[in-house]
Amino acid sequence: MKRLNILATACLLTISAKASTPTYKYITIGTDAVEHNSSLLSLTNTAPSAEGISIVKVDTSKLNELSHHMHDEFQRCGGFVLHDSLEEAEKTLGAEGERSFAAQSLFSDYTLDQESLVKHLVASVQESNISSVIRHLSTYKNRYYKSKSGVDAANWIFDTWKGISAARTDVSVEKFKHDGFPQPSIILTIAGASAETIVVGGHLDSIAGYWGRATAHAPGADDNASGIATTTEVLRSLIESGYKPAKTIKFMAYAAEEVGLLGSSAIAKKMKKDGVDVIGALQLDMTNFKGSDLDIVMMTDYTNEAQNAFVGTIIDKYLPTVSWGYDKCGYACSDHASWTRQGFPASMPFESKKREMNRKIHTKHDTIERSGGNADHATKFAKMAVAFVVELDR
Ligand code: BES
Ligand code: ZN
Repeated sequence: MKRLNILATACLLTISAKASTPTYKYITIGTDAVEHNSSLLSLTNTAPSAEGISIVKVDTSKLNELSHHMHDEFQRCGGFVLHDSLEEAEKTLGAEGERSFAAQSLFSDYTLDQESLVKHLVASVQESNISSVIRHLSTYKNRYYKSKSGVDAANWIFDTWKGISAARTDVSVEKFKHDGFPQPSIILTIAGASAETIVVGGHLDSIAGYWGRATAHAPGADDNASGIATTTEVLRSLIESGYKPAKTIKFMAYAAEEVGLLGSSAIAKKMKKDGVDVIGALQLDMTNFKGSDLDIVMMTDYTNEAQNAFVGTIIDKYLPTVSWGYDKCGYACSDHASWTRQGFPASMPFESKKREMNRKIHTKHDTIERSGGNADHATKFAKMAVAFVVELDR
């Protein structure tokens, strides 16, 4: 109840600030929501949609009603972005702008009110678990999306996640099969009473060389055994503590990121098509190389601004000794872009500033030794991600 009031107030403020401007404006809005609202709100001139986002001309006097409707039906605050002109709206679609809808909308309540539970769970995160998963995943010659060792590594993650969740009937683990290559993505689901879904994950594949990639030595300790190990420790901490989420939590190890975000793209598209309400996705790709003065660097491109700020408040509150800041990749550098492209809010907390990144990735030298032979840096990410899940869940 508290949450609804807060969001309704925020929505109304946004709309009333625009109330004195011309009668007709343009909004970018999820195509699913256009279909739901068309008759009720007499929206006119629906433009062709791109990536699940439509440009719609709308009578500004209807915006309040639309805002309420979006809130009630889609649990989105506003759930649309207002533009003064068609040209401005069009700019938000297409190459760079495809991310705008997911980047700007508010998808959840970002207040922090789970202090005792979060502190308890954060304290249960263990560096030794993370380093041991990094070490194991680094033993495959590579985890290339087309090689047998890449399939073996995926199966090992499946077996490991199955083992962790064996005692829980509300947890399931699946292999998500992909067309055109043998490496599956792995998805662990903790079923909640609500279908609202929180996603935490990273890519499981690794790559090195240009020719003969299927046989090249690619331990991928940092890129991205570290993200899988971090994800594994987050789900272990939640599951072994007996945590029963209110929302549905999904942990994902994506196949074939290194060849164009193939695994995450297929999953995000399917979840969009199936109408799954993803209220937040956290991407863990490279968490164990401390290359900068800042510990955690939030990538601003292809991510959701409000959710990024929320992650920042989590670090400030629960990990006060961890420093953080912002930078950008400059391109769709990892699986968070797959979520953003489908209109879901995503964040990509990264291990360093871009300029100070680990230069040994995609080579045979990407080993845990380069990170001092431990998982101290990744441990900060696991603690942050545990807090992210619990605070977004309640
Ligand atoms: N882990 C990297 C992404 C990355 C690298 C993020 C450096 C931030 C700094 C990822 O596995 C990767 O290599 N991505 C590709 C692009 C992808 C679409 C194939 C890349 O960065 O070239
Ligand atoms: Zn990579």
